[in-house]
Amino acid sequence: MKWTLLLILESLLADSALGWTYHYSNNTMNWTMARRFCQSHYTDLVVIQNQKENDYLVSKLPNKEKSPYYWIGIYKTHWSKNWTWVGNNSTWIGNQSWAKNEPNNNHSTEFCVEIYLNSGINRGKWNDEKCSFSKHPVCFQAQCNATSCVRGQCQETIENTTCLCEPGFMGERCQTAVECSPLSHPENGYLVCSGGNQTFNSTCHFKCQIGFLLIGSSALTCEVEGFGAAQGLRYKQALIAVAGCGAFSAFCCVCFCWAKHKRKKLAQVRQTEEAITPPNEVQG
Ligand SMILES: *[C@@H]1O[C@H](CO)[C@@H](O)[C@H](O)[C@H]1NC(C)=O
Ligand SMILES: *[C@@H]1O[C@H](CO)[C@@H](O)[C@H](O)[C@H]1NC(C)=O
Ligand SMILES: *[C@@H]1O[C@H](CO)[C@@H](O)[C@H](O)[C@H]1NC(C)=O
Ligand SMILES: *[C@@H]1O[C@H](CO)[C@@H](O)[C@H](O)[C@H]1NC(C)=O
Ligand SMILES: *[C@@H]1O[C@H](CO)[C@@H](O)[C@H](O)[C@H]1NC(C)=O
Ligand SMILES: *[C@@H]1O[C@H](CO)[C@@H](O)[C@H](O)[C@H]1NC(C)=O
Ligand SMILES: *[C@@H]1O[C@H](CO)[C@@H](O)[C@H](O)[C@H]1NC(C)=O
Ligand SMILES: *[C@@H]1O[C@H](CO)[C@@H](O)[C@H](O)[C@H]1NC(C)=O
Ligand SMILES: *[C@@H]1O[C@H](CO)[C@@H](O)[C@H](O)[C@H]1NC(C)=O
Ligand SMILES: *[C@@H]1O[C@H](CO)[C@@H](O)[C@H](O)[C@H]1NC(C)=O
Ligand SMILES: *[C@@H]1O[C@H](CO)[C@@H](O)[C@H](O)[C@H]1NC(C)=O
Repeated sequence: MKWTLLLILESLLADSALGWTYHYSNNTMNWTMARRFCQSHYTDLVVIQNQKENDYLVSKLPNKEKSPYYWIGIYKTHWSKNWTWVGNNSTWIGNQSWAKNEPNNNHSTEFCVEIYLNSGINRGKWNDEKCSFSKHPVCFQAQCNATSCVRGQCQETIENTTCLCEPGFMGERCQTAVECSPLSHPENGYLVCSGGNQTFNSTCHFKCQIGFLLIGSSALTCEVEGFGAAQGLRYKQALIAVAGCGAFSAFCCVCFCWAKHKRKKLAQVRQTEEAITPPNEVQG
């Protein structure tokens, strides 16, 4: 009897949906209004997590040779504070991100960041600017939503979204509970599993046929291996439970059946007595 997990914990890929998309406006506005624009039409001002995304973004946006300035979603609230991306506390800045001699806080209050989109040497580089200046907003539209992953976290990368599944779940949307390898039915007993499945987090109860007594714990829960400290314990108790219904049942039967099922179980008890009698004492 085994009660271990079959195949586990491969977070699966959702090829169908693309990752977030990028959008901009031809109108210019200050950083606050740019963010408001993005939030009302898309998800937010663009968040850049690595150099690859920066390069991808640059490849997707049109150059504006005359006014190549786009607001991006990174800012600070005080000169002594760190640069922070909108949405969460991510502070990624690549060592190639800033244009030469930037950020310089030229006006002592340059707490917002623009990206240059032209064909010059500063293409794709960043500069700190006064938040009240007018520039084009660059926004992103997230593809992940609350229902993208049933039991997992939705992660977006370039042209790709992926569900990272919680332990015990698998599938493109983490919608499938992992199956434990099936428990064998106990001798002289049977198994009742919640939902009829032996999947993650379902509990199976051991029951004995009338006249047989269960030894040990009567239930076993399908868990991810090493998931809880009680796993080893439950496993052992289950072994005893099966043994209780099987090998030791004969012994239990003597005590138990007489009390409750005297008449019906006589034949069975006789067999039982034979079975536990040492071979050299068998009567002819
Ligand atoms: C911005 O203006 C250009 C040139 O007029 C046009 O091709 C483009 O579609 C406009 N983009 C948006 C997002 O309005
Ligand atoms: C600010 O950035 C510095 C250097 O990257 C880091 O050591 C520090 O923990 C950051 N502070 C906060 C509040 O994130
Ligand atoms: C960002 O960090 C601050 C302070 O460290 C914390 O209060 C705040 O909840 C964090 N915000 C997010 C979205 O994680
Ligand atoms: C911050 O947001 C970005 C983009 O949404 C995400 O990739 C990153 O994991 C987030 N960081 C944290 C600490 O939540
Ligand atoms: C930029 O960072 C990468 C990895 O962190 C490093 O290998 C590289 O040498 C750095 N380049 C410069 C110019 O500092
Ligand atoms: C600082 O700003 C002033 C005026 O806004 C500008 O003339 C000057 O070139 C800027 N200096 C740097 C180093 O960007
Ligand atoms: C941004 O523009 C709006 C509307 O024009 C204005 O009310 C707001 O004060 C401006 N904010 C900054 C920081 O310049
Ligand atoms: C949520 O995202 C999934 C793809 O990840 C999409 O199929 C579904 O339509 C979205 N639902 C809503 C309410 O936007
Ligand atoms: C999507 O992202 C995941 C995780 O980053 C990666 O393993 C997978 O290969 C990507 N799929 C595509 C089609 O790019
Ligand atoms: C049991 O499995 C069947 C088929 O896989 C599924 O339809 C049903 O919802 C599952 N029940 C539970 C409680 O997981
Ligand atoms: C396991 O099932 C119980 C009761 O059905 C539920 O309360 C609990 O949240 C489930 N745990 C997981 C990890 O799904």
